[in-house]
Amino acid sequence: MSVGRAPGKVILLGEHAVVYGEPALAAAIDRHIQVSVEPADAADAPDAFIAIAREAGWTGGFSVRIESQIPYGNGLGSSAALGVALARAFKPGCSVEEAARLAMHLERAVHGKPSGVDPAVSAHGGVIFFLKGAVERVGGSAWLCVLQSGIERGTKTTVLGLAERRKTDPVIDRSIRSLGELARQGRSFLELGDLRGLGKAFDTAHSYLRDGLGVSCLELERAADALRAAGALGAKLTGAGGGGAAIGLARDQAHAGEIAEKTGGFAVGIGS
Ligand code: MEV
Repeated sequence: MSVGRAPGKVILLGEHAVVYGEPALAAAIDRHIQVSVEPADAADAPDAFIAIAREAGWTGGFSVRIESQIPYGNGLGSSAALGVALARAFKPGCSVEEAARLAMHLERAVHGKPSGVDPAVSAHGGVIFFLKGAVERVGGSAWLCVLQSGIERGTKTTVLGLAERRKTDPVIDRSIRSLGELARQGRSFLELGDLRGLGKAFDTAHSYLRDGLGVSCLELERAADALRAAGALGAKLTGAGGGGAAIGLARDQAHAGEIAEKTGGFAVGIGS
């Protein structure tokens, strides 16, 4: 039996914009998927699993057991983590870059038009600045509260819906550029430990995602409002939106725990 493990993620800044060549700031979270792969007579598995196995050099059939701590359909990177964990199980010792590349088979099947940021951050861990496929590790650390909106959603419908609206709505491209700029600024805020600045960037990004890109929804608005009302320094939807989760920035671990207790979310630490 061969085992692979990979973490979920949150997009701190730059979701959607990253699909159009802008940067994103993303962080791995301490919620993991573990897969166990065993040789079996037949490979009765989704095509993407088989594609990962074959490219990883696994010959013959297999069976896969999946154990996940990452809520599905919440923008927390469950499909990317599954892809990276599969890559690691099929090819133990594969490099970070190769794991991220192999995981793209599953991302493409699930998402339609993935930028690659989700598998990249799951494979690298920590916090990354992702621009057009290139990954830079980012220093700094922070505590967040993740609050699920209660609505599961598919990234594919949100991403492809936006691509369609973008053809006729010029506000979308302007918002995409602003979101990219916020990802650049957010990186500096995190590296400098400027949590007030980072919180403000969260709030501003959320406004662009809601008003410019139209990817928020009532339940996500309630989640972001609840995080702010509970004391978050800033809050935003994370991932594709249309449901899924919101994140609120805390001053420290204890503060993240307080926000989680007040809102029903969970606290996560990000970065070094
Ligand atoms: C999803 O976590 C992030 C999106 O930007 C899609 C992608 O980059 O593949 C919405």
